[in-house]
Amino acid sequence: MSTLAIRGGTVIDARGSRRADVVIGDEGTILAVGSGLTADHALDAGGCFVAPGLVDLHVHLRQPGNEEAETIDTGARAAALGGFTAVVAMPNTDPAMDCVSVISEVRALGESAICEVVPSAAISVGRQGEALAPMAELVRAGVRIFTDDGDGVQDDKLMRTALDYASSLAHLCPGETIVLAQHCEVESLSKGGYMHEGSWSSWLGIPGQPSEAEELMVMRDIALCRLTGARVHFQHMSTAGSISMIRAAKAAGLPVTAEAATHHFSLTDACCQSYDPVYKVHPPLRTDADVEAVKAGLADGTIDAIATDHAPHTPKSKQQTFADAPPGMLGLETAFAVANTYLDMPIESLLGAMSWRPAAICGLNGNHGGPIEEGSAGNLTVIDPNAAWTVSAAELASRSSNTPYEGMALRGRVRHTIYKGEAVVIDGVAQR
Ligand code: DOR
Repeated sequence: MSTLAIRGGTVIDARGSRRADVVIGDEGTILAVGSGLTADHALDAGGCFVAPGLVDLHVHLRQPGNEEAETIDTGARAAALGGFTAVVAMPNTDPAMDCVSVISEVRALGESAICEVVPSAAISVGRQGEALAPMAELVRAGVRIFTDDGDGVQDDKLMRTALDYASSLAHLCPGETIVLAQHCEVESLSKGGYMHEGSWSSWLGIPGQPSEAEELMVMRDIALCRLTGARVHFQHMSTAGSISMIRAAKAAGLPVTAEAATHHFSLTDACCQSYDPVYKVHPPLRTDADVEAVKAGLADGTIDAIATDHAPHTPKSKQQTFADAPPGMLGLETAFAVANTYLDMPIESLLGAMSWRPAAICGLNGNHGGPIEEGSAGNLTVIDPNAAWTVSAAELASRSSNTPYEGMALRGRVRHTIYKGEAVVIDGVAQR
C-alpha cells in the first residue's frame, strides 16, 4: 500500500480547526491525523486549510447531448481544480435525465472522472412539466435529488403530487432523504425577459424578469411543503424577498433548505450595461440590495449552501445578442475564490456552506464533507486562502469559456485536491 501525507496545514471541518498533518492510504481512507506524520509521498499544505472536499449541489455537465460545451470528464476536471470532490449533475441534458437508463449512462461516464458525479433526476418526463418521471424506479436506482432545473415546475398540482409521491417513497431508502429541488421561476412572468427587471433593464432597453417571477414560486413551494411535509430545496436563490420567505419558513420549522450561486453575491444587474451575454443567467443578476440579502442569508444560515450553477455554453452560442444567447455562466474553478473574496464570513462557515452542509443536503455525508479523522473517506481539498490570482478563461479546464470573472483579481486558490485517496490536483494542476 502507498500512503500520502498532507503536511503543515490547518485542518478545518465541522468540528473546528487545528494544526495537523493528514495521512491517507491509496484505498481512499484517512489513516491518521496528527503532528509530524510521514508517508510514502507528501504534499505541502503550508499556509493552507485542509478541508473536506467541496460539494456542489448544482452543476450542468451537458452530457449526454451537448458535449461541445462540456463533458462529464471536462466538467469533473474543472470541479476538482475548484476543490470539489462531488458535484450534483442537473438533468437538463439531451435526452433529459428522467429515466434509469440515462442516469446509468451518466453514472458510467462518471466512473472515470476525477470527482464524484451524482446525477439528479428530472421531476417530470422530459422536464416538460406535464407527467411525473418514474420516481419510484429512480429512487430504487439510487437517485435522491429530483429537479426540473433549467425550468421550474409550473403546474401547482403536479408539484404537489411530486412532493406527496416523494414522501410515499421514503420506505425505499430508509434513513435517507428524498429531496425535491426547485428552480423557482414562474414562466408567465419571466417569459420574454432577459435580465432583472429594474432601473438597469429600463435604461438599457433589455426586457426584464421581475423578482416576483422567482418569489411567487418560492411562496407556492413553501405552502406545498407545509401541506405535504416533504423536503424542498430552493435552488439559486437570488432575491431579498425569496430569502426572507425562506428565513420565515425555517423559523416555522418547515423542512426547507436553500442554496445561493456564487454570481448572485458577487455580481449585479449593472454588469449587463456591457450588453455582453456572458452576464445573462437565470435567475438573472439582481440589484445591490439583493446581493446584500444573499450575503445576509449566507451569514445567518438561512441559505445553507453555496453552489455554482456552473453552466457552460459554447463561444458560438454566447456570441449572439443578449436576447438570443442562452443563459448561464461558468463557476466551478472560481467558486471558492469568489466566495472567499466577496463574503465576509468566518472560514469555518464558508467551508461549511461549500462542503459539509451541501453534503448533508444530498445525502453524501458518509463520503464527503468530513469529519477529517482516522477512518473517514480520503476526499479532501487543500486551499491557500491568501493566494492572489487573476481569472483567465483561456486557462480554465472547462470546455467552455463563459466566465463572468475574466480579468478579475481574486483571493484564494485550490492547491491540491484528493479524491478517493488519489491526489487528482497537485499544485493547481490536474493530474489526469
Ligand atoms: O442560467 C442558467 N443556465 N440557468 C438555468 O437554470 C439553466 C442553466 C443552463 O442549463 O444553461
